[in-house]
Amino acid sequence: MGSCSKVAAVELLNVVRPIVAVSAFIAQAAHALHRHPEWRQKLKDDEGQLEPFVQEVRRLYPFFPAVAARVKSDFEWRGYRFSKGYRVLLDLYGTNTDARSWDAPQEFRPERFHDREVTPYDFIPQGGGDHHRNHRCPGEWIAISQMKAFCSFFVNAIDYEVPDQDLDLETEELPPMPKSRFIMRNVRRRQ
Ligand code: HEM
Repeated sequence: MGSCSKVAAVELLNVVRPIVAVSAFIAQAAHALHRHPEWRQKLKDDEGQLEPFVQEVRRLYPFFPAVAARVKSDFEWRGYRFSKGYRVLLDLYGTNTDARSWDAPQEFRPERFHDREVTPYDFIPQGGGDHHRNHRCPGEWIAISQMKAFCSFFVNAIDYEVPDQDLDLETEELPPMPKSRFIMRNVRRRQ
């Protein structure tokens, strides 16, 4: 492949990859809405609830479980030695569900985001730390706003049925989607 077509291929992937990634979070949001139907009315009544709802989906539905890096130079942190060349993993899902930071971490409770300041270190579904200095995902705000738009669309613009299917999460897959994906039937626009 010539260098121009290589650059074009990378750029094309840069467009396609985030679209596909956000679609998985959107399917997980639809799943959460189905599993917690009381949130339908809350989202309908108050659009201020959309953000806490999608934040809780991003916290609790594992997407990237971890990110990997290689140590650039020797250092020590809280008694742990990191030697140059070591591979290290940052446990994203483990951090988002760590009981030292989150009450009842396995429960789906969007209201936890009402009065909580998240820090760059305790809520890290798309990487941790400072967006400007590190490799934390620069697409977080795009992902959040697309998820909010879809959740609003699901509760305000359409009616649909969710037929019987296997909605358990396929935890051995990345990202862990519902086993039957999320099948909707009889989808119609609300008048
Ligand atoms: C479901 C949605 C998404 C997830 C789960 C996700 C997750 C991630 C993760 C885990 C990283 C690596 C962070 C690290 O190494 O510390 C990353 C990096 C990145 N993401 Fe996302 N992302 C998503 C959506 C997007 C979107 C919508 C865009 C752009 C429109 C985007 C652009 C990028 C770029 C450019 C990087 C590399 C940043 C760098 O290396 O400095 N992502 N993403």
